[in-house]
This record gives sequence, structure tokens and C-alpha cells, in this order.
Amino acid sequence: MKGKFIVIEGIDGCGKTTQIDELTKWLPSSGLMKKESKLITTREPGGSLLGKKLRGLILDTNKNNQPSSLAELLLYSADRAEHVSKIISPALNKNNWVISDRFSDSTLAYQGYGRNINLEIIKNIESIVCQGEYPDLTFFLEISPEESISRRKNQIPDRIEAEGIKFLEKVNEGFKVIAKEKNWKVISASQNIETISYQIKETLLKNFSTNK
Ligand code: TMP
Repeated sequence: MKGKFIVIEGIDGCGKTTQIDELTKWLPSSGLMKKESKLITTREPGGSLLGKKLRGLILDTNKNNQPSSLAELLLYSADRAEHVSKIISPALNKNNWVISDRFSDSTLAYQGYGRNINLEIIKNIESIVCQGEYPDLTFFLEISPEESISRRKNQIPDRIEAEGIKFLEKVNEGFKVIAKEKNWKVISASQNIETISYQIKETLLKNFSTNK
């Protein structure tokens, strides 16, 4: 019996971290998880020890350290391979639940739709990298690229966040296509934090109540 694997996706500034913090408080006492199961919250890039180092390299804004699109894709893929092997699979196999801030569809959205790397190439790489671990449920917190930029106007952007609105528009359109194809739970992230949180919890209750 494996634990549940839940992923939260969306463009930068959509409020993933806030919602994951809220779920971390709520899920263990929600009645959905078995008593002996733990909740692991993690993220990409950077969920494993090697991944933390890769995250520094991938998001470095230093102009001399800009990877090519292909190298960028493979760095995210290396991060994910390590994340699945060392964190996600071991946790799920112990019947623990995992919530990940981003997973493989971020690569499809950012490197595929954003950077125009052939989607089939990305899907082939992902089929190796994910090692058979796919989310039981993915939430897409949807905001417009304009709102994403305005919410982050006082933050120092990382290398991907610094790409600007045109790039973000392509990524957001990509997420919308993927969300439809994969039947994700789409939630408007322009609503207030409590409403979003309520909708996420209701969806989890609806999907997993009988699966305990
Ligand atoms: P984060 O700020 O949500 O932690 O993610 C860091 C950045 O990395 C964010 O701008 C999205 C980007 N990203 C990709 O471009 N491809 C990927 O596969 C992942 C996981 C993240």
C-alpha cells in the first residue's frame, strides 16, 4: 500500500507555498491519512541534497552561468531523478504522503511551452526520470502573468522569474493545456487565501476519503 502523491503547480507567485504550509497543518489531522503515515512536503528544484546544489546552479542569475535550454532541461531532469529516487519513492513506499511544490509538468510547461523544446523529447526524458511515480492529484493554482509579475514586484527574481511576461504567457498557456489533458483540479489563485485553501481541502476529502 502506497501513500498519496499530491503536486501543486502554477506560474511563479501563484501562492503554492502558502497553500502547502496550510496543508501541512491540516492534512495530518484531516482523517485522510493513516495514523502511522507521515506527511512529507518537498519541492522542485531542490527537494534532495544534490537537488539543493542543482537549484543554486539552475537559478543563478550570474550572466556567465546561463545554461543553454537543453542543459537547463537536463539539470531539472537530474534534480527530479534524484528527488524521485531519494525522497519521493522511499516516502510513498512507506505509506507516507508527499506534497511536492512542482513536479514533472513544470518541465513540460517551462522548458516545453516556455523554451520551445520539443514536447515529445521532454515526455521521453520524463518517462525515465519519474521512474513510474506520477501524482495521484495535481492542483493548478491559476493566475494571470500580469498578476504573477505584480505580486513579485518587490522580490529579487531568480533566473527563470527574470524572463519577463512573454515567457510567462507561454508557460501559463502550457499549464492550461496540460491541466485540461490531465484533468487537474484548477483553482483560481486570484481568490483569497482561505477560499483557495477550502477548495483544495474539499477536493482532497472528495478524492481520498475512502482510500484510507
Ligand atoms: P520555484 O520558485 O517555484 O521554487 O521554482 C523555481 C523556478 O524554476 C520557477 O521559476 C519555475 C522553474 N522551473 C522550471 O523552469 N522547470 C522545472 O521543471 C521546474 C521544477 C521549475
